[in-house]
Amino acid sequence: LFRPRRMRALLRAMEVFVTRRIPPAGLRTLSEAGGCVVRLWDSEEPVPRAELLAAVAGKRGLLCLLSDRVDRELLEAAGPSLKVISTMSVGFDHLDLHEIKKRGIRVGYTPDVLTDATAELSVALLLATCRRLPESAEEVKNGGWTTWKPLWMCGYGLSGSTVGIIGLGRIGQAVARRLKPFGVKKFLYTGSRPKTEIAVEFQAEFVPITRLAEEADFVVVTCALTPETQGICNKDFFSRMRKNAVFINTSRGAVVNQEDLYDALVNGQIAAAGLDVTTPEPLPTDHPLLSLKNCVILPHIGSATYTTRNTMSVLAANNLLAGLRGEPMPSELLL
Ligand code: NDP
Ligand code: DGY
Repeated sequence: LFRPRRMRALLRAMEVFVTRRIPPAGLRTLSEAGGCVVRLWDSEEPVPRAELLAAVAGKRGLLCLLSDRVDRELLEAAGPSLKVISTMSVGFDHLDLHEIKKRGIRVGYTPDVLTDATAELSVALLLATCRRLPESAEEVKNGGWTTWKPLWMCGYGLSGSTVGIIGLGRIGQAVARRLKPFGVKKFLYTGSRPKTEIAVEFQAEFVPITRLAEEADFVVVTCALTPETQGICNKDFFSRMRKNAVFINTSRGAVVNQEDLYDALVNGQIAAAGLDVTTPEPLPTDHPLLSLKNCVILPHIGSATYTTRNTMSVLAANNLLAGLRGEPMPSELLL
């Protein structure tokens, strides 16, 4: 089909690249809006890096996922046409914000809409870990359930406990709100500064991370991954934790030093761990952590409800569209 050169150039200037088959609601939002030409990596699997670099060249917008690294290499491959990046995630540690800002590119992300789903999963993982649900269910299947035994499959309960939250942000607060009715006696939290007005709802006390490690029966990590939080849950942290304490991470894998966590679990320094996020993702099936009964590992499913993922895709699409039109985004990351 012949198109005049100007028309081709115009269409090219409106192209956006979507790095995965996102939920239909998001794709519909993009296609119905007009104003952009969507090039889609139409697969459940990630676009290989070389193809991603080729596909972004000359695009005006990029809708990506947390598994796509948006760094200098990618931005250079995209070239000066790239004006908007919209990530279908609240976490943005996969984006090199310094390089993005230098180029004047706007960024959209998806806070709030996934807070409830992720907090719910965090609580589910905490309960599954402290009450040993996967291990117990396995015993039913493998014949280990021989009779009712007084101390068999005992774990630790929330009633009367101290819960320490690393990062009392949107998800951290939603976790505390859900845990409170279980009879938690005390909430501790840590972060870059006290959040007095927010913490009053849980009568939560702002403490240094060392004190949180020493006093909490349950540690829940819900902070963002930043240079400051990278590896903060390390040998020193685990060595301060109580022997009956349970460690839960639903933020990002790199907040935890996994070798140190493995040692703490094997040496009985802590009772158990539940991880929704790991380094790398996926975790290789022969990873030592997977051999431990006191470690429950999920495949990064914090926000995985149909409703939430659909809503995230629509928000990501609307962020992209607003950015392309030069309008305020529904959720813009201010750089
Ligand atoms: P928020 O920005 O609301 O919260 C992030 C929190 O991290 C803030 O409270 C911040 O505290 C805290 N933080 C920053 N620096 C530190 C520090 N040095 N020590 C302790 N805490 C710190 O984000 P959300 O609650 O919406 O999301 C949090 C993270 O959860 C996301 O960045 C993402 O990585 C992860 N996530 C994982 C999901 C999953 O599927 N498992 C789903 C959704 C999100 P302060 O304000 O004091 O700096
Ligand atoms: C995020 O949004 O950052 C999560 O990790 C996935 O929903």
